[in-house]
Amino acid sequence: MNETISSILNRRSIRRYLPEQIRKEDLEQIVRAGLYAPSARNKQPWHLTVVCGHELLTRLTAEVKSATLRMPDNHYAAMVQKEGYSVAFGAPILVIVSGNSADAPMVRCDCSLVLGNIFLAAHSLGIGSCWVNQLGILSDEPGFRTVLESLNVPARNTVYGCAALGYPRGAHPAAPARRENTVNYVTANQ
Ligand SMILES: Cc1cc2nc3c(=O)[nH]c(=O)nc-3n(C[C@H](O)[C@H](O)[C@H](O)COP(=O)(O)O)c2cc1C
Repeated sequence: MNETISSILNRRSIRRYLPEQIRKEDLEQIVRAGLYAPSARNKQPWHLTVVCGHELLTRLTAEVKSATLRMPDNHYAAMVQKEGYSVAFGAPILVIVSGNSADAPMVRCDCSLVLGNIFLAAHSLGIGSCWVNQLGILSDEPGFRTVLESLNVPARNTVYGCAALGYPRGAHPAAPARRENTVNYVTANQ
């Protein structure tokens, strides 16, 4: 099996991290891989906000927690109240991927592909990653908007997803079983 396919098959969502910061050169390569994602009509409508270090992420965790608890009826409320909750699972980097649907109707897909590239590039460098969804529902919450502004997330942007990045702690998780009957091949000679 070639290295790229092997990386795709072995990448897993990592939710336990060592506190060490990742190397700057590795972070830059991962971000660059994200920027080389395909995008509808090549609009590249994304913005990446790379939040670095535990000090900022601890503050962001507190803001995410407060904003989540201000939102009515959301399924993240229980999660953010758990002891030890950390928006990036204790990883030292969170990449916030945002965009604006007025600029690009397929922006959610485009941003998802950025995140896919980030996860695979990270894995290929021995760095763990996980999609973090919670910030998406907070994009329009007025108090959290000021937090996004303080991080220089563009004012009109919605957060479509985030990537936690860091060195994995503990054993590499096994791949969840694949659902069956999710593919059919169509050929002329059936
Ligand atoms: C759109 C999307 C949103 C996700 N949101 C979260 C999340 O908020 N928190 C989390 O721990 N994992 C999240 N994940 C990761 C999935 O739970 C994970 O990909 C899935 O369980 C399969 O595991 P694997 O990535 O190790 O193959 C998300 C994945 C996707 C594609």
